[in-house]
Amino acid sequence: MARRFGTPVFVLDEKSLLQNLEEFKKMVRPIRGELFYALKANPRLAVLRLLRKHGVGVEAVSGGEVRVALKAGYHGKEILFNGNGKTPEEVGWAVRNGVAWFNFDSQDQLDLLNRVGKRQGRVLQTLIRVKPEVPRATHPHLSVGEKGSKFGFMRKEIPRVLEQARKLGWVRLAGVHTHFGSQILSVAPFLQAARFSREVFEEIRREGFPMEALNLGGGFGIPYRETDSPFDVETLSRGYRKILAGFKGRVLFEPGRFLVGNAGKILSRVVSVKEGPGGRFLVLDAGMTENIRPALYGARHRIIAVHLDSDEGLGVSGWGLVQNESKVETPKSKIQNLKYNVVGPVCENSDGFGRFRLPRMRVGDLALIMDSGAYSSSMASTYNSRPRPAEVLIRKGKAQLIRKRDSIESLWEGET
Ligand code: LLP
Repeated sequence: MARRFGTPVFVLDEKSLLQNLEEFKKMVRPIRGELFYALKANPRLAVLRLLRKHGVGVEAVSGGEVRVALKAGYHGKEILFNGNGKTPEEVGWAVRNGVAWFNFDSQDQLDLLNRVGKRQGRVLQTLIRVKPEVPRATHPHLSVGEKGSKFGFMRKEIPRVLEQARKLGWVRLAGVHTHFGSQILSVAPFLQAARFSREVFEEIRREGFPMEALNLGGGFGIPYRETDSPFDVETLSRGYRKILAGFKGRVLFEPGRFLVGNAGKILSRVVSVKEGPGGRFLVLDAGMTENIRPALYGARHRIIAVHLDSDEGLGVSGWGLVQNESKVETPKSKIQNLKYNVVGPVCENSDGFGRFRLPRMRVGDLALIMDSGAYSSSMASTYNSRPRPAEVLIRKGKAQLIRKRDSIESLWEGET
């Protein structure tokens, strides 16, 4: 693949994606949960088409995301439009295209929905976003359900919002939305949020609103480090069943990372090995422009070294030799593990993946940056005038190009 598509290249595996989807569906089946994929995690049309074929809707947070979903074949009625700063143009466009649900988390955004609904003669279905106030469950940058976060109303603000909502003729408040964070690996906060959400939902219903949908958001984490245990879907499933027993309404979920995270890798090539008193650096041709997560959240992605032509007897087919730490088996005892500081080529000190024990690497060898299916290509940038990489989907054992590498010309497109 490195030869065929060049490096770095994003590689997505359809089979893993579908396995993740099946696992999630199984988890929410007892409560008849409906899925709306958070497409910000990975907005490739091929991914969206695949998920749509498997009965998954989408969650969008910008006019652009709504358009990407429509381009992939989604109908408005399969789209939730969230976001704390929707513009009149975005909402107008979404309404014209029949988008089903809009969330809101400020009074003026609710007024905006009402105005656009009125102008277009359509009553908009809305969900009120509320903070479940689950104490810090994840990295501070990813925790959005607490006081101080820009997303959602506090519970005590609800009565005032309801009072306002009652006066508006072109919005129909029919749901509660409580996404509270991302990359959360423990079950307890999800249950706490679900309990809270149901309570709020019933409260609003008692106030006479025609409540239909309880949107529990996304945030389901994946193990990135060897020490992370996988998400306990069974316990969560059992918990949900208890909390939502007798619930009358639709239950919606917005998973992103859980579906695509471990299905994607970045295949990159070693461009330099620098050893000296300052440290031992392995310089890859992928860095923060392809995966900004380590720089932004201190995230760790496992790295797998791939030797193409090694002194150590591994040959071209010597795959997947060594992961991060020593407990991972090495196929040949004579392989010498070295400590590398694995970095990218970008002119930025935070451009790197961390320290890893790897077999001796040489220029031209390959490295896989694991679990890069979510929030890597979608957050990729062209910083340092680096074209964004090609993307490839492996389907039934065959690799197909699903997105071309950016052209060099695209770097100055639109400029005068
Ligand atoms: N729903 C809403 C309203 C969201 O804001 C998000 C993510 C999701 C669903 C999907 O969350 P997931 O299931 O993927 O955790 N760039 C960060 C993640 C930011 C998530 C933003 N919102 C990262 O790389 O970890």
